[in-house]
Amino acid sequence: MVKQACRINNLKISDRLIIGIDVSSKQEVILLCKRINNNVTTLKLGLELIYSCGPGIVNTVRSFGYKVMLDTKLLDIPNTVCGAIAAISKLGVDKITIHALGGSKMLADTKQKLAEESSKLNIIPPLLFAVTILTSLDDEDLDTLGFKNGFLPSVLNLASVSIKNGIDGIICSPNEVKSIREKLGGGFYIATPGIRLQDDDKGDQKRISAPYSAIKDGADFIIVGRSITAKANLEEAIKKIFQEIERALV
Ligand code: C5P
Repeated sequence: MVKQACRINNLKISDRLIIGIDVSSKQEVILLCKRINNNVTTLKLGLELIYSCGPGIVNTVRSFGYKVMLDTKLLDIPNTVCGAIAAISKLGVDKITIHALGGSKMLADTKQKLAEESSKLNIIPPLLFAVTILTSLDDEDLDTLGFKNGFLPSVLNLASVSIKNGIDGIICSPNEVKSIREKLGGGFYIATPGIRLQDDDKGDQKRISAPYSAIKDGADFIIVGRSITAKANLEEAIKKIFQEIERALV
């Protein structure tokens, strides 16, 4: 089994805020790359963008000097996900997402394959983050799906399985960070979507919180999409979030 990457604690504030780019054209991506003005290190590219523009969009974003978190949310049988990860490893991304629900073998095999392919390419393996339970689901949704224990035990269990199988980081809601750190310790990364500033529209997200509490409770990265990209003054929104992160780290 390949062990998870060593967690770096002294991240810069600009590393800690990852901006989600959920648009469908190269022009919109370029515009956002310019408007974000390299205030953050990493942009997250998700399914909408990958399927609209193709994986080549990674190069466009990298050409502006950003690192890329590719939010592939892989979920399939181990052989299929390993095939996908071999292709993804060639894209030059920094972080990749996979669903914990794929199970132990899928997680361990994917991590192993990523290490092997990265070694062939002579690159540092991208960090592999496991999505636990989507932040758009609450207890009622989970009950409908047959998860009768509620989201917290499910998130904790999925996080534990992921860490045991060498996954580098966990994706969960800000509300679960504290419990994950208490139960599983500090040897791995945590990234949280479901981030909203006061007065922001919740949209489709249900398990949300503010940047301050996510970082205070032990998250390394916060992932923010619309609360930044939908704002007229994007740099001001980034600044506000940086201030919250800074306050949480004191
Ligand atoms: O706009 P908003 O801040 O809600 O965007 C959150 C981003 O994080 C979206 O790109 C979404 O796909 C992603 N994400 C999420 N919940 C997860 C994993 C990823 O919202 N569990």
